[in-house]
Amino acid sequence: MKTTTFLVALGAAAASASWAPVHHHKRAESCGQYDTIELGAFKLYNNMWGKDSGSGSQCVGLDSGPNSSDIAWHATWSWSGGEGKVKSYPNVESRPTNKKVSDLKTINTSWKWSYNGQDIVGDVAYDIFTAPTAGGDAAYEIMIWTAALGGAGPISETGKEVDTPTIGGQQWKLFKGTNAATTVFSFVAPTELQDYSGNLAEFFNYLTSKQSFPADQYFLSIGAGTEPFSGQNAVFTTTSYTLSY
Ligand SMILES: *[C@@H]1O[C@H](CO)[C@@H](O)[C@H](O)[C@H]1NC(C)=O
Ligand SMILES: *[C@@H]1O[C@H](CO)[C@@H](O)[C@H](O)[C@H]1NC(C)=O
Repeated sequence: MKTTTFLVALGAAAASASWAPVHHHKRAESCGQYDTIELGAFKLYNNMWGKDSGSGSQCVGLDSGPNSSDIAWHATWSWSGGEGKVKSYPNVESRPTNKKVSDLKTINTSWKWSYNGQDIVGDVAYDIFTAPTAGGDAAYEIMIWTAALGGAGPISETGKEVDTPTIGGQQWKLFKGTNAATTVFSFVAPTELQDYSGNLAEFFNYLTSKQSFPADQYFLSIGAGTEPFSGQNAVFTTTSYTLSY
């Protein structure tokens, strides 16, 4: 590792117009609470909202070019204590402005990710908040878990799924619960989906027709990231993420 860094540094010192750095060589990591890297319509967000329920640290870093059509990024973390409690949500977030759920017929997305580390308990998930007015207080949280790792489970009133809908050709377990004033729907994939693509609007079509979800809710945010509960030396890597609506 040291040798590689040294050689790269030498290369940079001798840079000519034809020498271009390979983008996966070291960039600054962002390790502060709510550190944000702006990416046009997206932001990479070092959200550690639940950190005080345990102890640990977390950083995020960008691995793709600022203008590439898909986003590559990573989060590194270690969290302990506060068993079963979510410590954070490092994620790439988009904020549709002034869009009702019924306005967006397609929310195309693709997401490739991998995880390394010890004793990882957590999820990999889209996290979407909606409100009755544009920019208002969240009334609903819709999570789409592409993985439940190490026995992590979603918020649930009953501890059991309320339905097993097939959406986008994939079966999900749907859990329902509340978090303070927010109603939480969590779709959990029965097996890890490390290479997912689909239209997120189909989840809302289902919720509207089968779970009395009000389609006149406004989107607040659409995130894609990971919620660590606990684990050590974790490296969460998104090699490619796209979202368009
Ligand atoms: C990236 O996009 C911004 C805004 O559209 C533009 O100003 C900038 O020149 C672009 N950079 C590259 C390297 O294409
Ligand atoms: C979403 O994907 C479908 C199927 O690939 C495509 O026909 C459509 O144009 C896409 N819509 C958007 C908004 O990207």
